[in-house]
Amino acid sequence: MTGRVRTGVLISGRGSNMSALIEAARNKDFPAEIALVLSDKPQAAGIRAAQLAGVAALGLDAKRFAGKPEFEAAMTVALAAAEAELICLAGFMRILSPAFVERWRGRILNIHPSLLPDLRGLQTHERALAEGRAEHGCTVHFVTADLDAGPIVAQARVPVLPGDDADRLAARVLVEEHRLYPEALATVARAIRAGRGAE
Ligand code: GRF
Repeated sequence: MTGRVRTGVLISGRGSNMSALIEAARNKDFPAEIALVLSDKPQAAGIRAAQLAGVAALGLDAKRFAGKPEFEAAMTVALAAAEAELICLAGFMRILSPAFVERWRGRILNIHPSLLPDLRGLQTHERALAEGRAEHGCTVHFVTADLDAGPIVAQARVPVLPGDDADRLAARVLVEEHRLYPEALATVARAIRAGRGAE
């Protein structure tokens, strides 16, 4: 009941959201702890950042596995060894199989750089600008088999400003991502802890 929720963070790149989660979890009162960082790209900058922060980090080169089932089986082994109960996708650039998602049903979060259900998929900042939107933002949601379509946990909005390009807009959204993801993880981890109490 009282233990923190052991969380695995899946990344593919720089891992700035991962770092925000690690930073938040430094506080012993935070309801989740980061048990493992996993990257599908062993050279991802986020791996080094996790190690420097004292968090266990593992690169599993997806290209070296025979296929998605084998790669996901290796991730499952690593997550089980870390006793992870929850997964946070943080710039993880692979679509998880329905079987993996089902195994972790209600236990995978993702952060997406748009105000879902608007702008699912990639290049959200470019598309927000091209569509002339006045507002943009980010969403933390549960992962389901449908891409970027699972139940929403939390959202943050930013204005689109005159003179914005995709990089400027992305940077404004990213500031909110780093605030929102730890907050959303805390909400979900508290709910998991409350559920443990009811068992
Ligand atoms: C973020 O914009 C996130 O919303 C998206 O991928 C990016 C990852 O950035 N899913 P980082 O690796 O966390 O810095």
